[in-house]
Amino acid sequence: MIHKNSSHEEAIKSAMYSIEKKKKGVNEGYWRLNYHISTPAFWMNDPNGFSLFNGEYHVFYQHHPYSPEWGPMFWGHIKSKDLVFWEHCPIALAPNEKYDQDGCFSGSAIEKDGLFYLLYTGNVWTGPDHDKDLKQTQCLAVSEDGIHFNKISENPVIFSGPSGDIHPHHFRDPKLWKHNEYYYCVLGSRTLNHHGQVLLYRSLDLKVWEYINVMAKSEGNLGYMWECPDFFHLEDQDILIMSPQGMEPANYLYHNLHQAGYIHGKLDYETGILNHGDFELLDYGFDFYAPQTMEDKKGRRIMIAWMAMWESEMPEQQHNWAGAMTIPRQLIIQDNKIKSLPIPELEKLRKDSVRYQNVTIDGEHKFNDLLGDSYELEVIIDAQDALLFGLKVRACEELNQETLIVYDRLENLLELNRDRSGRGPKGSRKAPVKLHNNELHLRIFVDKSSIEIFINNGEKVMSARIYPNQRARDIRFFSDREIHLKEVNKWNLEKSISTSLL
Ligand code: FRU
Repeated sequence: MIHKNSSHEEAIKSAMYSIEKKKKGVNEGYWRLNYHISTPAFWMNDPNGFSLFNGEYHVFYQHHPYSPEWGPMFWGHIKSKDLVFWEHCPIALAPNEKYDQDGCFSGSAIEKDGLFYLLYTGNVWTGPDHDKDLKQTQCLAVSEDGIHFNKISENPVIFSGPSGDIHPHHFRDPKLWKHNEYYYCVLGSRTLNHHGQVLLYRSLDLKVWEYINVMAKSEGNLGYMWECPDFFHLEDQDILIMSPQGMEPANYLYHNLHQAGYIHGKLDYETGILNHGDFELLDYGFDFYAPQTMEDKKGRRIMIAWMAMWESEMPEQQHNWAGAMTIPRQLIIQDNKIKSLPIPELEKLRKDSVRYQNVTIDGEHKFNDLLGDSYELEVIIDAQDALLFGLKVRACEELNQETLIVYDRLENLLELNRDRSGRGPKGSRKAPVKLHNNELHLRIFVDKSSIEIFINNGEKVMSARIYPNQRARDIRFFSDREIHLKEVNKWNLEKSISTSLL
């Protein structure tokens, strides 16, 4: 029997009213995304509860429904039958209980015995310093229909962190999975003197939890806190994804405020220890954080992430929204590393195909019918003897705008530069990339205010929010010596996120 709680329902109703009032204006703004998940109005951060229930895909997200800035967290909700077309659902969780009064923080979802469970972090500020004065506990909510959720009376189900070298207050973001007869969860944590780590728990019923061990921790160079862990088995590997806060930049790496990546190896379920190798990034761009994965109906491992970065300027806030998710990416393992590929279902959105083959260019070249602001572009470039080459997208000469993608053959680096992308944050990020048979393969997804570049079939990915003028639509290729464009394929991509609330 699920008990309804009228104060929770009221809190959700007020939040929905706040969204409803603003959503029309939000959709009128030019930077509104066509095929990326964002809120109907106001603030979004981490994806939460990415999962399958009753044959449908669900994404929940950290949501502040009263302003385009972060605030007391609710869980927004959107669902899809195919991971391509999404429809907004009513808000799922509101912070109305003593144990979550200052926010329903990140967590995950799982189906058990026909019911849909959310395990999330209840956040309470215990004083003015949000880094020190906080109490975080793990709480459970349940739904019969996958839309309306009730918090259980036994909450919090994990009331405090374990003893040992474990910070008592920074204890959040449970990610659930099932293995044999147990449910497991990993939790983000830090040691007493601030090194990131991840804790492993198990339970038979999702309500009574037993602490097993520290699954993995930073040995001093991987940040002061690991947020939003995720754990899964892929091919013959156990993968732990996490978002380390506060890693120091090293050469061209780790220039975002916080990072998101993985370590992999073998988990011993008895000791709870992951025997693992080095940390690898999951994305080399500017805007990628708190990724979460799920196993889909076909057994594929699919990941989405918050396509933004803490403390970054977000010009869409002036239109009363903030934040978006990346496109869903399929994770595979090749050469002992994770590769991320756009899910093939996104091809459903393609229209207006334009194709060029075997074009040689030297200097700068623009094709007159190759332009846009919501598209997929695939290019295969034979580099010949060129040392520096690439392309500019969202370009407009008159406005002096362009987003630059340039390959440096001597350094083996692909650079994404948004210094002249328009409004918003600037800068450059680099990914280590080798040519294969002297060729560079790129699949680029441009939306009204974003770009995601999949390099050499998912070996590396770079994601960024950009805020160009709506007239900046050109695509220009350039090179310091002759290059050969073997393939240029472009499709406009249709809108796939519904504008109406359920
Ligand atoms: C990560 C994070 C989580 C937390 C949530 C709060 O971006 O800081 O650790 O649960 O955001 O919104």
